[in-house]
Amino acid sequence: MPVDVSDAATAVAHPNIALVKYWGKRDERLVLPYTDSLSMTLDVFPTTTSVRLTAAEADEVTLDGRPAQGEALRRVTDFLDLVRQRAGRAERALVDSRNTVPTGAGLASSASGFAALAVASATAYGLRLDARDLSRLARRGSGSAARSIYGGFAVWHAGVAGGQGGGPYDQGGGPYDSDPDPDLASYAEPVPVPVEELDPALVIALLDTGPKSVSSREAMRRTVATSPLYRGWADSSRTDLAEMRRALLRGDLDAVGEIAERNALGMHATMLAARPAVRYLSPATLTVLDAVQQLRRDGVSAHATIDAGPNTKVLCRSSDADRVADAVRAAASCQVLVARCGPGALLHSEVR
Ligand code: DP6
Repeated sequence: MPVDVSDAATAVAHPNIALVKYWGKRDERLVLPYTDSLSMTLDVFPTTTSVRLTAAEADEVTLDGRPAQGEALRRVTDFLDLVRQRAGRAERALVDSRNTVPTGAGLASSASGFAALAVASATAYGLRLDARDLSRLARRGSGSAARSIYGGFAVWHAGVAGGQGGGPYDQGGGPYDSDPDPDLASYAEPVPVPVEELDPALVIALLDTGPKSVSSREAMRRTVATSPLYRGWADSSRTDLAEMRRALLRGDLDAVGEIAERNALGMHATMLAARPAVRYLSPATLTVLDAVQQLRRDGVSAHATIDAGPNTKVLCRSSDADRVADAVRAAASCQVLVARCGPGALLHSEVR
């Protein structure tokens, strides 16, 4: 099939950090979560991804300048298959993706990566999708990518009739059964937040930028299947999300931080109780948690959140970010970076 040289696009997306976490899929193929989650998109660590259609027989994927192989390649080609199926086209693609965030270190590289790939590939294959549909598409690559389509704060709906998913304990007659098409119902959308009033910053402690020992995909699978604490966390996450929305709306950063910290620590508790346990927390993580507690005792609004890796992010007021960064750096002798609210995923032509 002749390939039109205009069948190419480049997109940029940023990672997001969940303040109410996504942990656990009720459907692995469609990437449908058990619970709603809510995040802040960052202004650091963008991923830039170019997609160009080709007459070649197979997709060629380059990640950070190196040919992708194994699982990484499979995830991208599976994603492109989905785009091709929706576009009714068969051409293969050349994909070049560059992260500025260490890949696989619990710093949300898959969120920015699949959000950028969704925007670039949908455009290259001629799909005209609105933000909601791009979010649904990005979700299929990596759940958290659904939220990186948007700048600022975003909520990702689990897509369950009558609200959030209950948990793996819903055996028939639960909310999942009554949902006509969960794939359509599970997408992210922006949360209106008075960002100027809230004035949030995330101080990121880079404690270990090597790839994680267990992928988040495997870790969440194991947690759902074996952790006796999973149900409790999923239930409390529902309350956390409702309270988080209210706290964001009234610009109450203290409450936002408190909810985010308890939600993240609860998520890690579910993993520690999995069989065998998944432990992403390192001694340096605990050192940062101690420093955060000390900052609070000293009257600074600072709360921690941790994803699938030891790196710790501290939510604080922008005006306190330097003080928080100094305290974290002094405690953990690590590299520290200050992030603020960043933009949603954009085509290169739209980037200012
Ligand atoms: C701890 O989105 O990377 O960062 O859907 O399997 O690709 P997959 O998982 P992923 O998991 C992110 C988990 C988390 C929490 C969050 O971002 O909500």
